Amino acid sequence: MEILDGKKLSEQIKEEIKQAVILRKENQKKIPHLAAVIVGNDGASLTYVGSKVRSCEQVGFKSTLIHLESKITEEALISKIRALNNDDTLDGYIVQLPLPQHIDEEKILLAVDPKKDVDGFHPSNFGRMALEMDSFIPATPFGIMEMLRRYKIDVSGKHCVVIGRSHIVGRPISILMSQKNNPGNATVTLAHSRTKDIEKLTQKADIIISALGIPEFLKADMVKDGVIVIDVGITRVLDESHPKGYIIKGDVAYDEVSKKSSYITPVPGGVGPMTIAMLLQNTLLSCERKF
Ligand code: GUN
Repeated sequence: MEILDGKKLSEQIKEEIKQAVILRKENQKKIPHLAAVIVGNDGASLTYVGSKVRSCEQVGFKSTLIHLESKITEEALISKIRALNNDDTLDGYIVQLPLPQHIDEEKILLAVDPKKDVDGFHPSNFGRMALEMDSFIPATPFGIMEMLRRYKIDVSGKHCVVIGRSHIVGRPISILMSQKNNPGNATVTLAHSRTKDIEKLTQKADIIISALGIPEFLKADMVKDGVIVIDVGITRVLDESHPKGYIIKGDVAYDEVSKKSSYITPVPGGVGPMTIAMLLQNTLLSCERKF
C-alpha cells in the first residue's frame, strides 16, 4: 500500500508556482492576484478561504479577501461581482460556496467572467472542459488528476467508480477520468444517492473516488484487493476530546480499507491540500493568459 501524500505533493507544486512568480518578478511581469469572496460566517468556509489566502502569500501572489455579511442581497452581491470582473488588477477570483439560502447560486456563478473563473464553475468553462478544450478545471478534480499524473498511476482502461454527483467534484471528475487523455481513458460509473446496491459496484472497481460527505461510508468489505482509493470527504465530526471540538473525517474507513488498497489518500493530507495548490495553478495560468 502506498499513501498518496497530497500535503507533500501540494508543497512541491506551490514551490514550482513560487519559482514561476520569482521569474515573473525578475522579468518585470505582473504578479498574479487572486481574490476570494466569502458571504457569512460558516466556520468551515472561513477556514478554507483563510487557507487559500495564506497559500497565496506563500507563493508570492497578491491576494484580496472580500468578507460580506450573510444578509447581503443577491443584487448587491452581483454588483460586487461586476466590479471584480472590471478590476484589471485581478487575474482571478472565487466565490466560496455554499452561499446563504436567499441567494441563487446559479445566478452568481453565471455573473462571473469566465476569464477570471479560476474555480472553473461557469458553464462556459465546464462545457469547454467536457469538450476537452482548454479551460479552467475545478480545483478539486484538477488536484486528483494531478495527483494521479505525478504518482504515475495508470488509469487507462480501468473501472473507476465515482461516488457523488456534485457539480464541484463528482460530475467533473467523472468527465475527466473518462476523457481521451493521460490520466484518463478510464471506464467510469457515476454512483449517487439513488444508486441501488452500491457495494456491488465498488466491489468490482479498480479505482474509487468518493465525494459523498458521509464519514467512513466506504468499508473494507465494499472494496477489492489492490483498489486505488481517492477520498474527497472532509466532514467535521463533533469530538469533545479534541481542542477544536471536532475532528475531520473522510468518506473512507481508512484503517480497514488501506489494508486492501494499492494506493490511498489520507484525510486530512490527501486531496484537500491539492485543491488549494490547483487553485493557485489556475490563477497563474490566468495571469499568463494561456486561454
Ligand atoms: N466550496 C467547497 N469547495 C469549494 C471550491 O472548490 N470552491 C468554492 N468557491 N467553494 C467551495
